Amino acid sequence: MSDKYVHGYHPRENERLHDQAGTLVDLLHSDTKYARGSSVLEAGCGVGAQTVTLAQRSPDARFMSVDVSADSIAEARRRADRAGLTNVEFRRADIFALPFNAEAFDHVFVCFVLEHLSRPLEALAVLKRLLRAGGTITVIEGDHGSTYFHPDSLEAHAAIQCQVMLQREAGGNALIGRQLYPLLVEAGFDAVRVIPRMVYVDSSRPDLVDGFTRKTFTAMI
Ligand SMILES: C[S@@+](CC[C@H](N)C(=O)[O-])C[C@H]1O[C@@H](n2cnc3c(N)ncnc32)[C@H](O)[C@@H]1O
Repeated sequence: MSDKYVHGYHPRENERLHDQAGTLVDLLHSDTKYARGSSVLEAGCGVGAQTVTLAQRSPDARFMSVDVSADSIAEARRRADRAGLTNVEFRRADIFALPFNAEAFDHVFVCFVLEHLSRPLEALAVLKRLLRAGGTITVIEGDHGSTYFHPDSLEAHAAIQCQVMLQREAGGNALIGRQLYPLLVEAGFDAVRVIPRMVYVDSSRPDLVDGFTRKTFTAMI
């Protein structure tokens, strides 16, 4: 992998990915359901934090989940086995050298991956070639520049800015959310639709204070 994955593969980060997926499950997955018999490529599945939700919500679809990290794939397999999933296959593979034929999939799912790549446009073009005519791609990415606080906190913004800079130095782009439309259009996708999803947290939502603010966002920074 030429890009350096800024969050690394420490067990605490693996746990954070599961916390993130768990706390955002409805926000991210409420409208993702794949039809019976369809084949879905999940590119950059990490430790399988999104995979379990995807496969459980579309039990009659078949998933091929890949990641460049062999350790993450091994962990994802363990998770899927524990969840009793039978509709997912995992493979270690780099998005830029995927071992699949053109038009092999009906759908592609990408979550929090393009933001770590120095060539996100090329990655989208690669994924597009793997889609059958009429297939779809779902891309979920963050945008750390869209964070607001009350009371406002210069320290919090400065800490986030450090993350943005570190990710940039590692070849990625923590502000990629705002670029998804032009990237997808330039990669040749049509009927592109961007749906901004907001995470709003205050103390009347203790689950999100814990699951998102503490265990997902602050833990990442
Ligand atoms: C933030 S994690 C997201 C994992 C998962 N999609 C999720 O939402 O929990 C980003 C993942 O992208 C993977 N990745 C980075 N570059 C990759 C590449 N070139 N090919 C495949 N996977 C890659 C990393 O190994 C890491 O597991």
